[in-house]
Amino acid sequence: MTSLQEKNILNNQVFDKADWSSAYQNVEVELENQSLKISKGNIIPELNGTLFRNGPGILERDGQWLHHPFDGDGMITAIKFKNGKASFTNKFVKTEGFLKEQNVNKFIYRGVFGTQKKGGVINNAFNLKLKNIANTHVIKLGDELLALWEAAGPHSLDPNNLETNGLTTLKGVLKKNEAFSAHPKVDFNSNSADEVLITFGVQTGPTSTIRLMEFSNSGKNSGQILFDRKYKLKGFAFLHDFAITTNWAIFLQNAIDFNPLPFVMGQKGAAQCLKSNPKKTAKFFIVPRDSGLFRGQPPIIIDAPEGFVFHHVNAYENDSNIILDSIFYDDFPSVGPDEDFRNIDFDNYPAGKLKRSLIDLKGKSSKLVSISNQTCEFAVTNPNFLGIKSNYSWMACTERKTGNAPLQAIKKINLETKEELFWSAAPKGFVSEPIMVPKEGSKYEDEGYLLILIWNGSRRGSDLIILNSSNLEELATYELPINIPHGLHGSWANEKLI
Ligand code: CO
Repeated sequence: MTSLQEKNILNNQVFDKADWSSAYQNVEVELENQSLKISKGNIIPELNGTLFRNGPGILERDGQWLHHPFDGDGMITAIKFKNGKASFTNKFVKTEGFLKEQNVNKFIYRGVFGTQKKGGVINNAFNLKLKNIANTHVIKLGDELLALWEAAGPHSLDPNNLETNGLTTLKGVLKKNEAFSAHPKVDFNSNSADEVLITFGVQTGPTSTIRLMEFSNSGKNSGQILFDRKYKLKGFAFLHDFAITTNWAIFLQNAIDFNPLPFVMGQKGAAQCLKSNPKKTAKFFIVPRDSGLFRGQPPIIIDAPEGFVFHHVNAYENDSNIILDSIFYDDFPSVGPDEDFRNIDFDNYPAGKLKRSLIDLKGKSSKLVSISNQTCEFAVTNPNFLGIKSNYSWMACTERKTGNAPLQAIKKINLETKEELFWSAAPKGFVSEPIMVPKEGSKYEDEGYLLILIWNGSRRGSDLIILNSSNLEELATYELPINIPHGLHGSWANEKLI
């Protein structure tokens, strides 16, 4: 990466908030198999498969805006590549709540992140029924495409046309609408013979229960459960994500409290009732995998560093240590009841920073070191290196090196040398989570493609940009036929899986 260091200088341009917030608009159409023309660059004939993305597609109904985009109904985008041709499909997840609200064109459910029904406190108090909005992630498991939202069950979709089949129990594994995390990991490095998908569901309360599940995700048993075990942990647990190594599943229990009263009384959304508790200590809750060497042993609980984590990047084992990279915030980021999410003050909003936890399983201690001080989110690793030592990570980051701002650039970082490389969409463009697709048969960890949905503030539209993941050179741009609001997570499925 040395010859590319000169690119490592970012412009100090300031973004226009109106360009950023213009992405927040309702998706009005559903398209199926619409062919895409390349607008810039060259087609990539060896890229065969489908990019799936999820994110909020409804931000407003009948003049009422959501309080937070995370409360928006899930809309799935699929961009399929076959022999150099690209086609586009998008559909809403037809959840029960979406269909009901679509019918009357108003919000009739409260949102976890603060969206209230019209009519004030009196119309919201004691109304605790939440809508499964299926808006966080989309991933294949067996022959089902799953639209995920962590507080309730997965919706099953047809991977080809994105039509919703309905809530799935995953062949009887889950109770109907049982909580199922939005951050499953596809693991190519476990001790199981097949590729596996490992994930969890959490039932929270004074004592919380984590259900850890491993499914086969290839071959004739694809979609079948392999391992299933429940663990109890003390206290309230807000667990959005986790990390894996070959032998362990690692959870970080943030030091936060949940005071449900303002939610029950109709004043706040449930997530607005989460608050950091400086008197509490965060904990690592490290669970032996049933496919690993320590099967059946009790979980290991170790004090964790201060800070709030939504997302982990990767973890690996080094003797009796676990090395875990995560994005840390000083505090839980929440949009207050009187704030407008389209006009938040980035300077006063907690910023994500990439940090490394060194966890000593024998000594039962942990230490936190900084990897980069630049604001970032949505960091990924080469999927073939999940759970084992990886040298590189790619992420969405701010244009500037310091301070908080919208995510406008893509960064590749060498986690050992800290060497960085950037591609930027600033000043008018805004990035989302990069999806890393390794080049088939490649020996190099960083060889492949990055697929990124961009909000193009110049033309007020969405683009798909494909970068070379090794040097971040721009390979191809496709202008998309619909406008896609800033989204959440996605995945890549190889052609052979579809
Ligand atoms: Co997430």
